[in-house]
Amino acid sequence: MTAAATAMALSLSATAGFAACDDGEIVVKFAHVTNTDKHPKGIAASLLQERVNNEMNGVMCMEVFPNSTLYNDDQVLEAMLQGDVQFAAPSLSKFEQFTKVFRIFDLPFMFKDIAAVDAFQNSETGQAMKESMTRRGLLGLGFWHNGMKQMSANKPLLVPEDAKGLKFRVQNSDVLKAQMAAMGASPQPMAFSEVYGALQTGVVDGQENTWSNIYGQKFFEVQDGTTETNHGVLDYMLVTSTDWWDSLPEDVRNQLATIVNEVTESRNAAVGEVDDAARQAILDAGGVIRELTPEQRNAWLVAMKPVWDEFEGDVGADNIAAAQSFNA
Ligand code: LMR
Repeated sequence: MTAAATAMALSLSATAGFAACDDGEIVVKFAHVTNTDKHPKGIAASLLQERVNNEMNGVMCMEVFPNSTLYNDDQVLEAMLQGDVQFAAPSLSKFEQFTKVFRIFDLPFMFKDIAAVDAFQNSETGQAMKESMTRRGLLGLGFWHNGMKQMSANKPLLVPEDAKGLKFRVQNSDVLKAQMAAMGASPQPMAFSEVYGALQTGVVDGQENTWSNIYGQKFFEVQDGTTETNHGVLDYMLVTSTDWWDSLPEDVRNQLATIVNEVTESRNAAVGEVDDAARQAILDAGGVIRELTPEQRNAWLVAMKPVWDEFEGDVGADNIAAAQSFNA
């Protein structure tokens, strides 16, 4: 792809897929579900596309399909195994069919902040998780940060009792379903692209997500407010198919791996700024954000933490201890 075509592709890819690759180039389709503006994944995917198309021009050509325009997260991993898409970055909650090791990231209050998440992911235990699905045909190329999750609903949420009896959209994860049940709420698994409509029409009362997703999908517009609970993490695994990866010529694979690693490192280091900008954008647009006192936040911890016991067998007590060591 030429530089001009790349520029055109970047602007087109903000809304939909495109076909601007040259004959003979290895085409890499990257499907994801978020917006590209003020979003850690959207920005990282666009940067990856730009670098691949500039630095590997003539050899490889990346097309990014954001906003669930090609696949949603329930479809994308099967499509990858069929060879219909080469890159995806689903949240760590979306790999339940392939591995249980990522459940540690869904456990509420496991990590005190994104720096602790980063340190755990970069530890030996975390890095080994990238290869936890190779027997199933998927290879993790890197953890991508999004951020800490907040809770929103159609009424103010200050203590866990406020969530009792409400229906909360969750990603399709057993841990997240158990977390909502622990608060006496009813978990409703649903694809990301359907959440805004479900909140708007009252199919669900609330949801949990990061600032960039609450801003990007405009959830704040159809909720009473968002409570800054920072109760869990939502991060991604940039993933590819082992068959496709192994089929690449070695020099091409190495160059792509280098670009992936550099983009991963630089965008993960910048995630705090993106997160803060999305939070501020919600306020600027008139959204309500409620902060908690330490006592109120502790009440959410007390309500949710019993969920750990239920999943310790899947996650491993040693992994939990390793994760906790980064909160010090
Ligand atoms: C969600 O489904 O809420 C998130 O996983 C979406 C995303 O990719 O951030």
